[in-house]
Amino acid sequence: MADGNSETKSSNQMWGGRFASGPDAIMEEINASIGFDKKLYAQDIRGSIAHATMLAHQGIISSEDKDKIVHGLNTILSEIESGQFEFSRRLEDIHMNIEARLATLIGPAAGRLHTARSRNDQVALDFRLWVKEELQRTEKALTALIAAFLDRAEEHADTVMPGFTHLQTAQPVTFGHHCMAYVEMFGRDRSRVRHAIEHMDESPIGAAALAGTGFPIDRHMTAKALGFAGPTRNSIDTVSDRDFALEFLSMASITATHLSRLAEEIVIWSTPQFGFIRLSDAFSTGSSIMPQKKNPDAAELVRAKTGRINGSLIALLTVMKGLPLAYSKDMQEDKEQVFDAAESLELAIAAMTGMVRDMTVRTDRMKAAAGSGYSTATDLADWLVREAGLPFRDAHHVTGRAVALAEQKTCDLADLSLADLQSIHADITDKVFDVLTVEASVASRTSFGGTAPNEVRKQIAWWRARN
Ligand code: ARG
Repeated sequence: MADGNSETKSSNQMWGGRFASGPDAIMEEINASIGFDKKLYAQDIRGSIAHATMLAHQGIISSEDKDKIVHGLNTILSEIESGQFEFSRRLEDIHMNIEARLATLIGPAAGRLHTARSRNDQVALDFRLWVKEELQRTEKALTALIAAFLDRAEEHADTVMPGFTHLQTAQPVTFGHHCMAYVEMFGRDRSRVRHAIEHMDESPIGAAALAGTGFPIDRHMTAKALGFAGPTRNSIDTVSDRDFALEFLSMASITATHLSRLAEEIVIWSTPQFGFIRLSDAFSTGSSIMPQKKNPDAAELVRAKTGRINGSLIALLTVMKGLPLAYSKDMQEDKEQVFDAAESLELAIAAMTGMVRDMTVRTDRMKAAAGSGYSTATDLADWLVREAGLPFRDAHHVTGRAVALAEQKTCDLADLSLADLQSIHADITDKVFDVLTVEASVASRTSFGGTAPNEVRKQIAWWRARN
């Protein structure tokens, strides 16, 4: 600042109104993570108990000190859970808050807990444990969503509806088959969750600041006590790795993208124009001005949550992409992204499960729509190949002319007379009408994974055995 007078300005003016006490307050505000990382209290305490137990087992601390530490940590756990614990921003984060309270409760023995560890491996551990538990919750939630779809698919294995490409009527399918498409999608999401759990199943504790430690610790013991398959193998990587968080966010983004596509279909299907489904009152709202309206708000919000979740992934990728090894404080920005995405994803899956379970499927509307838009044109072309021996390309051409004729007469293909059809190709017989109905069309698609009701039932059985 060129103006010498600036030195006489009050700290208030210099630092802005919010930071009444100057740079210290700004530092505290930017540095503290307790506002959000207090969510990790249970994992922090569990990790500390495992660490202290290992230290005593290895003769690094006395077993009396270990007992005091474990008892103190359990006291802190109940203080936090009963809302009696006072979190302090001056103590920065959950790790320092708990350690400071431990010192008040048990005195000097508390100072021995931090032997052979650092906040760098501590936070890596706490966060990993939290993400692992969240992945386990997500796995359960996806299983419930898949179960909801399997029930609806079974119920509607024979319900015909139009299948779409470009959102234009393509070929008739069954609603059961359409539901099973989502089972496949959410099934893949669930296997991504399982893979992520397996991938991250290594314990960071004992990597210390970055280089390991000279104390004779047993990292296999702590890994086992904390439910990990084993310890991580490189201490530098351990404290600088947030792949487990990125994998969680990647899987969350893909799942949210699937949920959003489903939400979009629900929004379209519940319009009066489509009218394929009616959402339950529990998952829709009215309009404050238009009494006739029933809005699919829950589906719209699921669609919108995808923006937040995808945003979290991009945010953390961006935080991580420029960091040299090993730990940098930038990494503290990992938690809010993951917490927010996790909350949004849990809610979105739960809302979708509720909507799928509760919605009324309007089979009459689906059936009427299934037959419109010349949806059985491919069946006519296939019939010409099979019964009249035409090459498919010629059959396609003949069918195109039949569609044009039906369009001209403003009727469906099945409503054309035999004479009309024979005027286009002489080899057409009245047997053709057997394939022009939507029921015949779906029943004929018996290829593996096809829409024929029996084929769909086979796929339902396959999934039932795995859900
Ligand atoms: N609150 C920190 C975080 O979330 C804990 C690790 C602090 N480590 C350090 N070297 N300052 O990343």
